[in-house]
Amino acid sequence: MHRVCISSTGLFTPPHVISNAELVDAFNRFAELENTANAADIAAGKRTAVPSSSVEFIEKASGIQQRYVLEKSGVLDPTRMRPRLASRPDSEISLMADIAVQAGRDALKRAGKKPAAVDGVICAAANMQRAYPAMAIEIQHALGIGGFGFDMNVACSSATFAIEMAANAVKSGAARAVLIVNPEITSPHLAWKDRDCHFIFGDVCTAILVERLVDAPVGVFEVLGTKLVTSFSNAIRNNAGFMTRSEDRDPDDRDLLFYQEGRKVFKEVCPMAASHIGSHLASLDLTPGDVRRFWLHQANLAMNQLIGRKLLGRDATPDDAPVILNEFANTASAGSIIAFHRHHDDFRKDEVGVICSFGAGYSIGSAVLRRT
Ligand SMILES: CC(C)(COP(=O)(O)OP(=O)(O)OC[C@H]1O[C@@H](n2cnc3c(N)ncnc32)[C@H](O)[C@@H]1OP(=O)(O)O)[C@@H](O)C(=O)NCCC(=O)NCCS
Repeated sequence: MHRVCISSTGLFTPPHVISNAELVDAFNRFAELENTANAADIAAGKRTAVPSSSVEFIEKASGIQQRYVLEKSGVLDPTRMRPRLASRPDSEISLMADIAVQAGRDALKRAGKKPAAVDGVICAAANMQRAYPAMAIEIQHALGIGGFGFDMNVACSSATFAIEMAANAVKSGAARAVLIVNPEITSPHLAWKDRDCHFIFGDVCTAILVERLVDAPVGVFEVLGTKLVTSFSNAIRNNAGFMTRSEDRDPDDRDLLFYQEGRKVFKEVCPMAASHIGSHLASLDLTPGDVRRFWLHQANLAMNQLIGRKLLGRDATPDDAPVILNEFANTASAGSIIAFHRHHDDFRKDEVGVICSFGAGYSIGSAVLRRT
């Protein structure tokens, strides 16, 4: 059995930013158009008016101040309210693979690794652009990596579940190194016309290089353990799938985009995530007090504050549990990885940190890391 580490991470940040003010302005113009078009039905009580959104609500309820997106003109067009993404011919790299290659190159460069030293690619994300061929194989081809590639989707926990898959492959000797990429193109699956959730997501891509500890320099993060759990819930769903057209569904049906019962998720997931982290640490003879930093999933600031309090018995400081959702919004599985990517340089030798994701499924994944 080989000892395993995360030797580097990479980040691709999309070129466009949508501030809360821009988002709310577009939403409220959309609401006005809808309400004007349906004024008679609204007056007759046959239809409810679309209520307006507000920057104050978004910041107070979520902590999100802006989000990056791959395309913003379509999102901010009140007559459209979804990104304008051009379809690409089969001869061109897909959009998911394109941003994954950029994040993957960043991770390889930071680790000083050549693609030839990597034996596998896992493309782990909450949404997949197509059924097959796997985006991971396209990414593997574009980067010149040998071995295997496969796609996997565990919603917002895709990255941590992939860390366990990659760590097991390296531990067993099946691969010397595995590159994980998390191209989270969330903007096409977001209901930008629904004020309850139109502010939630942003686009991004992260990459994680998992390899044998002996092949990496001092200063990397040894993976002490990983722990995954799933428990069925209907509280976060997206019913779009390959059977949709055979079901003769209206492509605009609301359940074919992300939807959730936000309060329920909040109430159910926070205690689950805190107890998951606690028991994972206990299995390694560690306590939350031994942990220098928690790189938590980035969905909602209050959620992370609550998990921090449950773990530490006090308010977590930004040093204990860094926040990136103010800048990126919820980037599905990439959120905790961005937090790690941005906030690990100050770790001293032997300090311990925990990456933890939680999301639809429900699914919770954690990785306990120690700096070498
Ligand atoms: C989604 C979330 C931010 C909503 O926050 P909340 O405090 O639960 O807010 P609620 O949905 O209860 O809405 C409170 C009120 O604000 C209103 N509201 C909702 N969106 C609004 C908006 N954009 N602008 C203004 N008001 C809004 C609601 O209609 C509601 O009004 P009411 O009290 O008259 O019914 C929060 O529940 C959350 O983050 N949950 C965690 C789940 C999550 O992020 N999951 C992602 C996948 S992991």
